[in-house]
Amino acid sequence: MADKLIIFDTTLRDGEQSPGASMTRDEKLRIARQLERLKVDVIEAGFAASSNGDFEAVQAIANAIKDSTVCSLARANDKDIARSVEALRGAQRARVHTFIATSALHMEKKLRMSPEQVLEQAKQSVRFARNLLDDIEFSPEDGYRSDPDFLCRVLEAVIAEGATTINVPDTVGYAVPELYGEFIRNLRERVPNSDKAIWSVHCHNDLGMAVANSLAGVKIGGARQVECTINGLGERAGNCSLEEVVMAIKTRRDYFGLEVGIDTHHILAASRMVSQTTGFVVQPNKAVVGANAFAHASGIHQDGVLKARDTYEIMRAEDVGWSANKIVLGKLSGRNAFKQRLQDLGVQLESESEINAAFARFKELADRKSEIFDEDILALVSDESVSSDKEQFGFVSLSQRSETGERPHAAIVFTVTGLEVKAQSEGNGPVDATLKAIESHVQSGAEMVLYSVNAISGSTESQGEVTVRLQNSGRVVNGVGSDPDIVVASAKAYLSALNKLQSKADRVAAQG
Ligand code: KIV
Ligand code: ZN
Repeated sequence: MADKLIIFDTTLRDGEQSPGASMTRDEKLRIARQLERLKVDVIEAGFAASSNGDFEAVQAIANAIKDSTVCSLARANDKDIARSVEALRGAQRARVHTFIATSALHMEKKLRMSPEQVLEQAKQSVRFARNLLDDIEFSPEDGYRSDPDFLCRVLEAVIAEGATTINVPDTVGYAVPELYGEFIRNLRERVPNSDKAIWSVHCHNDLGMAVANSLAGVKIGGARQVECTINGLGERAGNCSLEEVVMAIKTRRDYFGLEVGIDTHHILAASRMVSQTTGFVVQPNKAVVGANAFAHASGIHQDGVLKARDTYEIMRAEDVGWSANKIVLGKLSGRNAFKQRLQDLGVQLESESEINAAFARFKELADRKSEIFDEDILALVSDESVSSDKEQFGFVSLSQRSETGERPHAAIVFTVTGLEVKAQSEGNGPVDATLKAIESHVQSGAEMVLYSVNAISGSTESQGEVTVRLQNSGRVVNGVGSDPDIVVASAKAYLSALNKLQSKADRVAAQG
């Protein structure tokens, strides 16, 4: 029996720290359920002490998830740890992940603490946490750039205090594979009680090597936990990508000799859910989950694959959730079929009224678009922020005019706290006119830092999915909207971003 590699997913914590990727409690819960379907071993649900919104999200996930361990991040202090433990109270299996920086640079410039003070605080925090919970992970932040002698002292001490997992982050993505692998191996060899803990790798992707570094930490260093995110979501260039690391371990089992418990068939659905929820589009040539990942364009490749798949394919598309792009539902499909499809896609709506609202939107879409794909259904569910009456702004209708040689004009009706308002404007193009019309009424003053359009299922008959990133008073949010009409999708995305800017309370304050 091969050793098991623990998959620790931090999409909802480190992934969410990506500017604009903040999620509501319900969005996080939906993704957590999908991670559970994937059979992720540990779900880092958030950073409970960072905001009330994050506390509630961790709590909701802890109460809902049965099969995965639910984890909360905590700075190395009693208050953060106690808050995490409180949020995790309902979990079947709970973990606290506490951290403090150990590199000379971080200790001196950021923490303004001496190494001895950091060592004491690390010990004290793990001792405090271990008195409340059995499963304690410790991370020396910026561990890879820390002095190995000092790091060994800290890690030996926290293991002696009861830390059960030791995670060694390459916080700034500075490592290269061989050196990172040797760094982990060296620590494990030098720390006298290293065998009392599971060793974990946590790599950022600043030099594009997060997956390679993580795999080297496993192969050379002997780590048995990898921390990763769906689509590699994360601050700056992101984190190690779950789908890539898992498929590398599975596909090259001959080399790694390890087992992972992940049910890979749910990978693509998880990727789409995260992308549609956060507005972070997956690049077409992204390994495993990109639209082109299994597409063979050259004649020679196509010929080879038709004769024998393994001439050019090292993985089977079906194994990660790609199926023939099948039409799943249409105009005549009933509520039960819709509900069943939601379930198959891992979407669990909380109440009958939410299902009814989503079904009404589905019927509306089916009237305009004869073939409804899985992607459409996922988009429709993600789109609820401009369809729900809980939100401040909601889309109602749009009419716009554009003609060669004429300046485009848009007139939009939308709701502001339930009341309909009308606004109109001209613009450089129909999208510009529409967003200017909204802004003429709302006057948010937000700066648009990104606008992107994507065809959900490939052709011009598909829905357009628009992402709008707005920045205001230091906050960055992404809004996503979808519709067969991309101008309407743009209006929805803009209103969704405005909703996110408004709803401070239930969103997570980014980690400092
Ligand atoms: O990158 C990092 O150092 C982290 C720690 C909090 C584990 O995310
Ligand atoms: Zn990190």
